[in-house]
Amino acid sequence: MGTETLIIENEAALAGLAARLAPLLKKGDVLTLKGNLGAGKTAFARALIRTLAGRSEEVPSPTFTLVQVYDFAPFSVYHFDLYRLEEKEVDILELGWDDARKDGVCLVEWPERLGMLLPRDRLDIEISFHKSKETAREITLWPHGTWEDRLR
Ligand SMILES: Nc1ncnc2c1ncn2[C@@H]1O[C@H](COP(=O)(O)OP(=O)(O)OP(=O)(O)O)[C@@H](O)[C@H]1O
Ligand SMILES: [Mg+2]
Repeated sequence: MGTETLIIENEAALAGLAARLAPLLKKGDVLTLKGNLGAGKTAFARALIRTLAGRSEEVPSPTFTLVQVYDFAPFSVYHFDLYRLEEKEVDILELGWDDARKDGVCLVEWPERLGMLLPRDRLDIEISFHKSKETAREITLWPHGTWEDRLR
């Protein structure tokens, strides 16, 4: 199974993609969000979380807290931003990674920081700036493990 690249025109279209993905999620899922600073990783996570919340939930970037938790039913959402993990001298396990994996859905910005903890079953979402249009983005979905069948 290959990957899929989509061009989205603006932030609303990005939110639309996140909203389409939201109903596929179940407890134990891990979505990684890759892309340069300001690409739209948090914007994607925010749209996904708001879809799951069913309302305009406040979704701050976890830039400094490193993780924000949303207690939804039937699963909690753990939104991580691991960019400053080393600088903050905290361990991912101190941030509740094990609980997140057990009873939640994990959205992980800067998943490169997970190292050995990066799960085999996951969906990597890569967001790149469009070469000419300011508000457009290229989104590539990279399914791994069980996600290869689930994305169809
Ligand atoms: N198509 C688009 N998709 C997402 N964001 C967009 C788009 N067009 C413009 N933007 C703007 O780009 C910015 C994306 O910021 P965001 O915080 O989501 O990036 P990020 O990838 O999380 O960055 P960081 O690495 O700093 O966490 C926002 O200001 C958003 O309004
Ligand atoms: Mg961010």
